[in-house]
Amino acid sequence: MIKIAIIGLGARGAEVYGAYSLKHKDEIKVVAISDVSQEKLNKYAKIFKIPDNMCFKNGEELLKQEKLADAIVIASPDHLHYNHTMKALEVGYHILLEKPISPNQDECIEMVQKANRLNKIVAVCHVLRYAPLFQSIKDIIDSGEIGEIVHINQIENVGYWHQAHSFVRGNWRKKSESSPMILAKSCHDLDIISWFINKPCVKISSFGSLKYFRKENQPRGATNRCLNGCQVKDTCPYDAEKIYIENFKQYPTDQKEVWPFIVLDNHPSEITLKKALLEGPYGRCVYDCDNDVVDHQIVNMEFIEGVTASFTMCAFSGATYRQVKVMGTKGEIIANDLTQKVEVKVYNGEFDIQPKVIDINSLNEDLSGHSGGDDKLLFDFIKLVESQSTNGTYLTSLNHSLQSHLMAFASEQSRINDGEIIYLKEEVKNA
Ligand SMILES: NC(=O)c1ccc[n+]([C@@H]2O[C@H](COP(=O)([O-])OP(=O)(O)OC[C@H]3O[C@@H](n4cnc5c(N)ncnc54)[C@H](O)[C@@H]3O)[C@@H](O)[C@H]2O)c1
Repeated sequence: MIKIAIIGLGARGAEVYGAYSLKHKDEIKVVAISDVSQEKLNKYAKIFKIPDNMCFKNGEELLKQEKLADAIVIASPDHLHYNHTMKALEVGYHILLEKPISPNQDECIEMVQKANRLNKIVAVCHVLRYAPLFQSIKDIIDSGEIGEIVHINQIENVGYWHQAHSFVRGNWRKKSESSPMILAKSCHDLDIISWFINKPCVKISSFGSLKYFRKENQPRGATNRCLNGCQVKDTCPYDAEKIYIENFKQYPTDQKEVWPFIVLDNHPSEITLKKALLEGPYGRCVYDCDNDVVDHQIVNMEFIEGVTASFTMCAFSGATYRQVKVMGTKGEIIANDLTQKVEVKVYNGEFDIQPKVIDINSLNEDLSGHSGGDDKLLFDFIKLVESQSTNGTYLTSLNHSLQSHLMAFASEQSRINDGEIIYLKEEVKNA
């Protein structure tokens, strides 16, 4: 059993990793918590049974103490990851670090160097590497069944309302306050592509923009808030009342304190959600926010030995899911994490090959939380800390996670420079 401290009691820190500790009391115990919100501190002190002297008003205060636990979960906002991680390493913690490592490239590199120098475990929450669907694809690739990978095509369907929630109205809407979209949302995808190809990426080019969620697209009759008398509310798919209150009503009574509702209020009810929509950021018209991150972006990548990949991120999809196509010299894999099916076609001389279909749903009991990746990542982290495996070769080590981040920085640099080809530096090739 390991003891952990948590910095950031949000949707990830408290509701994913903290919640795991309540279901697996023999594996992990939360012993110290910190958040700038006193309301959250009070709420989770009760839930995790933390005494007052182990509740801290922010991560900085917690990190001024001597080491309080075996490991620390850093689930604070993106721009705080660097300071929290550097300090936590000095105090001597092993770290479960939420992605992105940092929104700043130099900081990412410094963090990797420091973790290696101090010989600490820093696992980055690239949870998809732990999801059974992606692990099944990786196993097939590594078995050699489809030969050598020549190309990967991956699509991230963000989902129309998820884009509006997180990237138009929510905390990741502004690049300067969080990260560019390709890092914030899609470092997972670039990481999965890197992991599958398992070679250094050498060149990147990218296009994309914020096309739709802009003031000039606001329909006539719309108001600055959905509940301020908007005349097009009934026909608007982004109407906050439909998204938050109507959907909330469908949730069972014992499952109301869940994402995305807890982002609007710590104790969501129809009354508190309505108040949040009248006063807070999530009630704003999607065409009248202060957002600047893109709503669609494409990235073309070349890895060594001429292997290529193309990635599309787009807000405009009915559901939130990823599609992957891996094209090899002897076969192909087509997978989708909505259907949770992996199809494998091995070339055999036939014109129309019947695929072998792996139904991930039927093989796994619980695929909640990033297709089952959230819990499996934490389980692995606990084992790592217990075994003190600090050699940096674990699945989502900082070393392994750096390449996807540097690819994301290069993609953003290319996108803002009209698709200029960016040649990745040595750090990436050696990552
Ligand atoms: N692995 C994934 O798939 C995944 C998914 C979503 C978010 N994330 C990342 O996880 C991190 C947290 O995201 P979230 O969705 O939980 O956000 P959130 O806003 O729900 O939670 C962040 C919490 O940090 C607190 N906080 C702010 N400043 C702090 C400080 N100085 N000290 C301590 N706490 C502080 C906030 O009050 C908030 O409660 C972000 O970096 C985000 O990008 C990762």
